[in-house]
Amino acid sequence: MAHVSSYQPSTAIAKWFDDRLPIVRMMHDQFNVFPMPRNLNYLWTFGGILTFCLAVQLLTGIVLAMHYVPQESMAFDSVEHIMRDVNWGWLLRYMHANGGSMFFLAVYIHIVRGMYYGSYKAPREVLWIIGVLIFLAMMATAFMGYSLVWGQMSFWAVTVITNLFSSLDSIIPGMGTTIVEWIWGGFSVGGPTLTRLYSLHYLLPFVIAGLVVLHIWALHIPGSTNPTGIEIKSKSDSVPFHPYYTIKDGFAMSMFVILFAGFVFYAPNFLGHPDNYIVADPLVTPPHIVPEWYFLPFYAILRAIPSKLLGVIAMFASIGVLLFLPWLDTSKVRSARYRPIFKWFLLAFFINAVALGYLGAKAPEGWYLTFGRLCTAYYFLFLLVIMPIIGWIEKPSAMPGSITDDVLGKKPATAKTR
Ligand code: HEM
Repeated sequence: MAHVSSYQPSTAIAKWFDDRLPIVRMMHDQFNVFPMPRNLNYLWTFGGILTFCLAVQLLTGIVLAMHYVPQESMAFDSVEHIMRDVNWGWLLRYMHANGGSMFFLAVYIHIVRGMYYGSYKAPREVLWIIGVLIFLAMMATAFMGYSLVWGQMSFWAVTVITNLFSSLDSIIPGMGTTIVEWIWGGFSVGGPTLTRLYSLHYLLPFVIAGLVVLHIWALHIPGSTNPTGIEIKSKSDSVPFHPYYTIKDGFAMSMFVILFAGFVFYAPNFLGHPDNYIVADPLVTPPHIVPEWYFLPFYAILRAIPSKLLGVIAMFASIGVLLFLPWLDTSKVRSARYRPIFKWFLLAFFINAVALGYLGAKAPEGWYLTFGRLCTAYYFLFLLVIMPIIGWIEKPSAMPGSITDDVLGKKPATAKTR
């Protein structure tokens, strides 16, 4: 959607600056008067909440890095030093550790919103793909950050995950081992591994920030979709971003901060694993090596498959497949609100993902393993088979003629409009 700028520089200096670098104009057009659908619900506030989460992680992380020592013999103690000796160090560390969890909570809600309302559909495919890339970068960043504490869980999580590459030995003998040793910088996880994880953990959030700029750029070409999935057709369908959504996003963010503060101040270790308060020991393997909660569904998929190589492929495929969602979903109708069959299978998919998370925390044996396999099967079956088929056969329910009609509760028109 091409917009004619409504920005009027109010002073001579502002005009002079605007002629040279129209950044204030851009901010005005993109965030002040930008036309938004008038019917967005609170699920649309999570993009803003995610931006807030990224800012919190960057700010707290940069200050933590001033005190943290990325060396094998000092890393664990430097974290304790931050907790006990550095002014407000405990707050910085708890905010950063719990901030990671809050970031994932928000991103999962953001993704669920996108899937329910079909936000990934044309013309927003690139926006969605950039989102999936951000998600991958977030996972890599969180994994590397967790390793820096150099506790038992950090150390063994790095050992398990880096060792996954050794499965490539079953394709070309020796290739996997060579790659793993190259990643480690030695013959086991150790000092050189820690240094490179630290370097990348510092770098990746800035890559994420760059991707977020592209994400919002790609969003502002078509604009946001909305719960009806019907595009803005007339002026009455939209409201300017400010003050309507600055207020709504600000309120949602405040609620989110209360939850965040609840964890930081009242249960700062609730989401963590107690073993990570034991310094890394290469000679003692913890009885259950479990990742942080937000990785559990993918960990369950990894362990559901008996072959190591196929397990690794399935785990990466479970995220990679999301890139193709815009084409796997064959329905002409965007929002699941008007998709009577799809809605229920999608709900089952979300419950299935939570079940995978539960199973990821359990030992892969007996019924846990059986359910892990069933849930893994449904995960892929839904995305690769059920979703395309429903799109072809489903008869959508009647839709309102426009966003305004929906808001005013006018009777639905036809089932044809998106
Ligand atoms: C650092 C992480 C992320 C940030 C800061 C971010 C930011 C945003 C913002 C500010 C919006 C507009 C407000 C909203 O619709 O909520 C948005 C929309 C969107 N995002 Fe993200 N996002 C992130 C991750 C993701 C991920 C992981 C995905 C998907 C895999 C994704 C997919 C989308 C889609 C499809 C929209 C358009 C929604 C619509 O118009 O219905 N985003 N994002």
